[in-house]
Amino acid sequence: MAFKHKHLLGIQDLTASEITTILDTAESFYEISTREVKKVPTLRGKTIINLFFEPSTRTRSSFELAAKRLSADIVNFNSNASSTSKGETFKDTILNLEAMNPDAIIIRHPCAGATHYAATFSRSNIINAGDGAHEHPTQALLDAFTIRQQKKNFKDLKIIIVGDILHSRVARSNIFLLGKMGARVTLVGPPPLLPREFEKFGVNLDFNLDRAIEGADIVMMLRIQLERQAKNFFPSIREYRNIYALTAKRFRRAKKNAIIMHPGPINRGVELSADIADSAKSVILKQVENGIAVRMAVFYLLLGGKDREAFD
Ligand code: CP
Repeated sequence: MAFKHKHLLGIQDLTASEITTILDTAESFYEISTREVKKVPTLRGKTIINLFFEPSTRTRSSFELAAKRLSADIVNFNSNASSTSKGETFKDTILNLEAMNPDAIIIRHPCAGATHYAATFSRSNIINAGDGAHEHPTQALLDAFTIRQQKKNFKDLKIIIVGDILHSRVARSNIFLLGKMGARVTLVGPPPLLPREFEKFGVNLDFNLDRAIEGADIVMMLRIQLERQAKNFFPSIREYRNIYALTAKRFRRAKKNAIIMHPGPINRGVELSADIADSAKSVILKQVENGIAVRMAVFYLLLGGKDREAFD
C-alpha cells in the first residue's frame, strides 16, 4: 500500500492500514541494526534536520541513528545554542533552516500544535517528535511495534495506561493508535490527571490501579510530568507511589504473560519500582531498540526511498 502523507504530525491522521504499513516497513528495517555494518544507501543524498526545543535522550538519538543507518545526512539543532535565544521566532527559525534545502525536519516543541503550524508553511516533510501534551506519534508507533513483536496482534488485548494521562502526549498517541488497531484500553490515574473527556476516545477510565490491572496483557506506565504541572495534582509523591506505582505485588494481578512498558525516562521508585523496571517482564529497553527501525520506516515512507534493493 502506498503511503500518501507528506508529514507525520499525529496518529489521529492515520488509518489502521497505514499504521500497519509503517509497522511492516519497520520490520523489514529491523534487521539492519543487527548487522556488523549497520548502514544501507536507501536515503543517500537526503538531508534531515533534528529541531528540538525540549530535552530528549531517546527520540533525538533514535532519529539521528535511523537517518544515519539509511545514509541520510542529519543536522542536530539545539535550541539553547541557537539564535532563538536572541529572539528569532519559531517560524523564522524554520524558514532559515529551510533555506538550506533539507528534505525533512523533525520537530519537538513544548507547544501543542507547533508541528501542525510548521506544516502550514514548510516545504519539507515535517515529523512530529512530540508537541506539548498533544501527540508523540513515533513513540506510539514504536510501542505498537513492540506490542506486535510480543503479542502478534492487537485485537482484544487488554492494555492499561497508568499515570499522568492529562499531560501525556504518549498517552494520546497510544489511545488513538491502540483504538484503531482493536485493543481495549483503560486509562488509570488520580482523578485530577484523568480527565473525563477522554471517554470520548472510546477508552475506559479507572481511578483504581489494583482493579484495572486484573487480567491486563500490557501495563504501560507513564512518568509524572512535573515540568508541565503548574499546580499540585496530588498531595505528595509518596502518596502517588502508594496508590499508582507498579510494584511486583501489583503486577501479579495482571496476566501471567503480561509485559511492562514505559516510554522513558523512568523515575525509579516513583511510577514503578526498580525491580519491576529491570525484570524479565519489562520491554522498556526493547521499546528503545525498536524506535530506530520505526523511525527508519517513517523516513523511508515520507522521503520516498524507492530502491527496495538498496536494503542489501
Ligand atoms: N520517550 C521519549 O520521548 O524520550 P525522550 O524524551 O528521551 O526523547
